[in-house]
Amino acid sequence: MTTSIPGEPWSTGVARDGAGALVVGGVPVARLAAEVGTPAYVLDEADLRARAAGYRRAFAAAFAEVGAGVDVYYAGKAFLSVAVARWVHEEGLRVDTASGGELAVALRAGVPGADIGLHGNNKSDDELALALDHGVGRIIVDSLVEVERLAALVRSRGGDPAPVMVRVTTGVHAGGHEYISTAHEDQKFGLSVAARDGQDSPAMQALLAVVERPELRLLGIHSHIGSQILDPSGFEVAARVVLELRAQLAARTGVLVEEVDLGGGYGIAYLPGEVALDPDRIAKDVASSVAAAAAELGTPLPRFSIEPGRAVVGPAGLTLYTVGTVKPVRVDDETERLYVSVDGGMSDNIRPALYGARYHAEVVGRLSTAPHVLARVVGKHCESGDIVVHEVQLPADVRAGDLLAVAATGAYGRSMASNYNMLTRPPVVAVRDGEVRTLLRRETVDDLLAIDQG
Ligand code: LLP
Repeated sequence: MTTSIPGEPWSTGVARDGAGALVVGGVPVARLAAEVGTPAYVLDEADLRARAAGYRRAFAAAFAEVGAGVDVYYAGKAFLSVAVARWVHEEGLRVDTASGGELAVALRAGVPGADIGLHGNNKSDDELALALDHGVGRIIVDSLVEVERLAALVRSRGGDPAPVMVRVTTGVHAGGHEYISTAHEDQKFGLSVAARDGQDSPAMQALLAVVERPELRLLGIHSHIGSQILDPSGFEVAARVVLELRAQLAARTGVLVEEVDLGGGYGIAYLPGEVALDPDRIAKDVASSVAAAAAELGTPLPRFSIEPGRAVVGPAGLTLYTVGTVKPVRVDDETERLYVSVDGGMSDNIRPALYGARYHAEVVGRLSTAPHVLARVVGKHCESGDIVVHEVQLPADVRAGDLLAVAATGAYGRSMASNYNMLTRPPVVAVRDGEVRTLLRRETVDDLLAIDQG
């Protein structure tokens, strides 16, 4: 295989031109490199919008079939900028934020507070106050301490009760890597639905605490089971557990909460041959299983919501690098690996180092006819774990000055980027119909020095 383009894991706007050079959103990569430099994150706007709209349509249609409403929140932690918040909102999504900073970006984009959710296991009073100031539509509480803190804040400010969802852990553990699986018990998120020692479960205790507080309005129950999930059954099991908890709360208090959020985690393709979760299929499966569960429990269906992040922005993004050095390294008697160093690394994509995440790369400035050899794409940081792509076949004639693209880096790339080794963080540029637009400019060394007080 000399190229996987077009096709997954690349965005739909990626093609090779007659000479074999990559074009994305109608823009040749050579032009991108000349205009914005490398490394650069490149977002295919049409692809991102289509994925956002695709999730909204798939879930709206499937849930309408069973008589339930549904909202799709874009999880801004995957990548958020003012333009991206606007795009997803224009496509009919709401925005899920996980900090005061993300909330500020969504607000700057003009997303109404009512269409924003605020998450976090340790929100500060300032973050909670910002949410209240802007009428954020749902604050997802994560502990009993937070229930008290939020109620006290509302009491001291006056005004309407705060709309609250309680984040619960259902015991369902799903996703690609232990650090990104959030619904098993021994971790910091949510309140467990498991009752122990004859006491109410932590989840039930929190729900009762919210119901009792006049400063809070219990909107619903929230469950997020993990990330990069490729087996959809976890969503169905978790949804059933949440609906049971909702029915138990109704039996205890007469309060039947209006909303249930099933979180994010929809998996994408990172490598050629991998198959992403299909939104139409998963929406249908989840809708029919929640309908069956609600019927068994004898409760009407709530309004549902979901929070995809990666599945909206991940495949829409690629990272463009320039090759600097190439070095053959003997791994053992039989194997040689070509180490290809690019002008970025673990500061612009920490996922390989942090999670062992696998990516796909290609030489994209030209189409080489050279045989392909085993290669490893590495960065320029002072650390041997600074790996961008562990294992990939690249043309044997890959050389300094070649442009190299890594696919599917739109999610958790720029949003988890650092300034390690005082590298400046790359720009995020959007491409669409042959136009290039900078969403976030490249950082400069002056930016780094500006916060150094000497
Ligand atoms: N909702 C909640 C409450 C979440 O905690 C998350 C992700 C999402 C939605 C969105 O999940 P997604 O659809 O993007 O999988 N840094 C890791 C992923 C961490 C995810 C944390 N929570 C990574 O690079 O894989």
